[in-house]
Amino acid sequence: MSSAEKRARHVAVIMDGNGRWAKRKGLPRALGHKNGVEAVRALVRGCGDLGLECLTLYAFSSENWKRPEEEINDLMGLMRRFIKSDLQEFIDNGVRLKIIGDYKALEPDIVALIDDALEKTAGGTHTVAVALNYGSQQEIVRAANKAAATGAITEESLAANLDTVDLPPLDLLIRTSGEVRLSNFLLWQCAYAEMHFTEVLWPDFTVDHLKAALDEFEGRERRYGGR
Ligand code: IPE
Ligand code: IPE
Ligand code: MG
Repeated sequence: MSSAEKRARHVAVIMDGNGRWAKRKGLPRALGHKNGVEAVRALVRGCGDLGLECLTLYAFSSENWKRPEEEINDLMGLMRRFIKSDLQEFIDNGVRLKIIGDYKALEPDIVALIDDALEKTAGGTHTVAVALNYGSQQEIVRAANKAAATGAITEESLAANLDTVDLPPLDLLIRTSGEVRLSNFLLWQCAYAEMHFTEVLWPDFTVDHLKAALDEFEGRERRYGGR
């Protein structure tokens, strides 16, 4: 296989550890999330140069509604501010925004901001997919129901109804903060993805960490059950 063929097209990240980052520094949790947004911004800026076709970021899970209302409000506030402040930069840098998950259940003003951003970035050359109110089991159930409504459920018909239908196959999944679990993220899409777990807490994760993960990925032998 040539090195170009070994390069990752699609990387997904479970951005975990904002709370612990803040706690270690004696700061309020909200500041952990705020610094987490800075890490997102740097990665979005860098992913075009790395040649990635798609970077998928787990920002809010369907289970994160279990958190205290104050923290949910902080997260939603950061979301609003990030879209408003960075949309023009997305457009200028050829970023196509994509959302996976049931984002329509968020506050109406956030839904409107997202819909506007989706429309304005539709012509972008590489994709940043943000998972919002996302749960993989729920996504699979939705996809199975849609597939069943039009015929038999097959691997193809189910995949064609997942939120990720227009994204390249997932090559590499990264999780920060030392947790080694998927937390209901991309369960179907991970079937043959490579995994990279790091102790680095999300606000400390940089483009260099991503580059190192991609270099390591290129050295791996993917077998897909063959030999
Ligand atoms: C990840 O950081 C951000 C979200 C889940 C929204 P956490 O808030 O989960 O941080 P820890 O895991 O408590 O350190
Ligand atoms: C997963 O992190 C969700 C996001 C990063 C958005 P969590 O912190 O919610 O996961 P658990 O609860 O530790 O499994
Ligand atoms: Mg966490």
